[in-house]
This record gives sequence, structure tokens and C-alpha cells, in this order.
Amino acid sequence: MLLTGRFDMAKTATHQGHRFGGAWTEVKLDAVKYYLGFFTKVLASQPSPTRPFELWYIDAFAGSGSRQIEMVTGGLLENEPVGEETVDMAGSVLHALDVSPPFRRLVFIEGHGGRFRSLEAIRNANPSRGIECKQGDANARLQEIFSSPPWSKQSQGRGSHRAVCFLDPYGMSVDWGTLKLLAETRAVDVWYLFPLDAVTRQLATNLDRVDVHKQKRLDAMFGTPDWREDLYKVETGADLFAEPISTTTRTVTKAQIEEYARQRIGTLFRYVSEPLPLLAEGRGQIFSLFCLSNSASDKAIGLIRKGVAGVLKNYGPASRHRSARARSGP
Ligand SMILES: C[S@@+](CC[C@H](N)C(=O)[O-])C[C@H]1O[C@@H](n2cnc3c(N)ncnc32)[C@H](O)[C@@H]1O
Repeated sequence: MLLTGRFDMAKTATHQGHRFGGAWTEVKLDAVKYYLGFFTKVLASQPSPTRPFELWYIDAFAGSGSRQIEMVTGGLLENEPVGEETVDMAGSVLHALDVSPPFRRLVFIEGHGGRFRSLEAIRNANPSRGIECKQGDANARLQEIFSSPPWSKQSQGRGSHRAVCFLDPYGMSVDWGTLKLLAETRAVDVWYLFPLDAVTRQLATNLDRVDVHKQKRLDAMFGTPDWREDLYKVETGADLFAEPISTTTRTVTKAQIEEYARQRIGTLFRYVSEPLPLLAEGRGQIFSLFCLSNSASDKAIGLIRKGVAGVLKNYGPASRHRSARARSGP
């Protein structure tokens, strides 16, 4: 049986210890899992109870299935000496497999070889679950999935397939073309972990200090070169010798960068949720978790809003509280 929370990795076959994240990671995973449960329950009888949609889950940055953390053990309450134990927690893949009613198909994409092999082991241990593992770059693999049947056969969301896609990268790995692709399906709800802290750090105060490579990455993320004008202002002055000089300075705060990202994404998707802020001690907000939908159906958007309201109600305050002991990474 697949378990969530603390579980025995031996039951899911091979395992490469994958260490990432902090307390906010649990908030993120709980929030997405809550939505997945909402999604499969609500859509189990849509568009009609006799012919419901075929539901897919696509985990584009799937990891290994689990996450290793160090947990403090013992202490006064347990009447044992204080120690540390390495514990395996369920990652997004195992959470998705645990959702009830279940997804019909689950696609796990992972670039790292060892983690990919762990995903294959999970698939092999669960042959009846409709799992497909794809190795490689998430942006390229998503293009392949949506340009092949059944997705290539349904246009503008008119068809029998619906999906949730989770974009959970370490950093700025999600290309604008990928968001556009997902929006154009009009049939996929997207949970996108926007790396707010990383983006803010790349957007150096002085534009000259953002090197060409980083500028290209920011172009690919925002889907436009306009961020240079939108987020920076040219200031003119004089140097020590009264020669005119100009500097291009960032004029926006981290909160305004988040709002800028939200507005940019809103050019592709009809619905962009309020972000669920994920916080780390001493670093403030490090990620913004958005739910996105470009469904043409007002009824569908209404349902998504309801699911997201549940997420924000249950995990908004929790994210602030539980992230208090966080360290680093997604
Ligand atoms: C934050 S971890 C994902 C964690 C996972 N969602 C979980 O809960 O266990 C990000 C994963 O994406 C993988 N990755 C990073 N860049 C990638 C890319 N361009 N394509 C596919 N996988 C990538 C990394 O190897 C890593 O396993």
C-alpha cells in the first residue's frame, strides 16, 4: 500500500535519497494534494455520471517519489536522549497515487537518472495504476505529451480528457512556451511553483549586473523581453568629472515582482489564483504557488475557485506558521 506522510520506502521498491526543501515543502505538497482530491471527487461525475471525464495527473518535475528529511527524535516527552533520524516523506508522486477517487493515468517526468529509476520502480510495483514515466527535460516532454493522442485529438478543451499538471521545479526551469501550451489545452489545471526569491535575486538592483545568461532565462520565464522596461528605470546623472552617466535600476519590490508574474501569467490563463505564499525563516517568502486554468467554461472556473478557496483557507495560515523552521530549496 502507498502511504502519505511518513512511510516505509521499502514498499515502493528502490530509492535514491532525495533531499530538498524545508517545512514549507510539506505545506506545498499538502496544498496540492488537497486540490487533487477535490478535483477527482468533483469531476468523477462530470460532465455526466455515466460518462465522466478521463482524469490525468502530470507531474512534470516529479523527483523520486519521496523526500528525505532529518527529524529530531527523543527528548523529554519520549523520555529518550535527543537524536536525529533520517525519515522518508511522501513526495508529490506518492501523494498523487494516494488520491481518491484515483486518477486514471499518471505521468511522471524527471530529468535526473537516479530519481527517474525510482519512479520506474514505483510504476513497476503498481502495474495497474496507469503510470507512465518519461525521462528528460520537462518542457520538451510536455510538448510531446500534448502533441500526441489523446490530447492532440481534443482542441479547445472539447473532449473527454481533463488533467492537473504540477510544475514544481527547483528554480527558473519552466519556459513560457510550456505555460502557453498548457493554457491552449483549455483542459488542464496547473499548479505552478513560481520561484519568487530566485527571480528577485536574479533581478539585480542594477540591470548591468544581470549577465546575458540570466537575462535569457528571465526572457524565457516571463515570455517577453519587456521586463527590462517594466521592472527597471533609467536614471541619469553625472560622474565625478561632470560627464553624464546613466544607470538602469530596479524600481520594484519582491511583492511587486510577484504581482508582475501574476499579471504576465494572466495574459495566458483566464484564471490565476491568489498565490499561496511559502515562507522560510529569515528569508521571508521564497515561493508563490499559483493555480492556473484557461478553461472556457465558467462553471469549471467556478469549481476551480472553490477548490482553491479550500486550499488557501487550509494552508494559507499554515504555510506561515509551519514554515517558521524552514531551511532552503523547493
Ligand atoms: C523540487 S524537486 C521536485 C520534487 C517533487 N515534486 C516531490 O515532491 O518529490 C524538482 C525535480 O525536478 C527535476 N528537474 C529539474 N529540472 C528539470 C527539468 N528541466 N526537466 C525535468 N526534471 C527536472 C530535479 O531533478 C528534481 O527532482
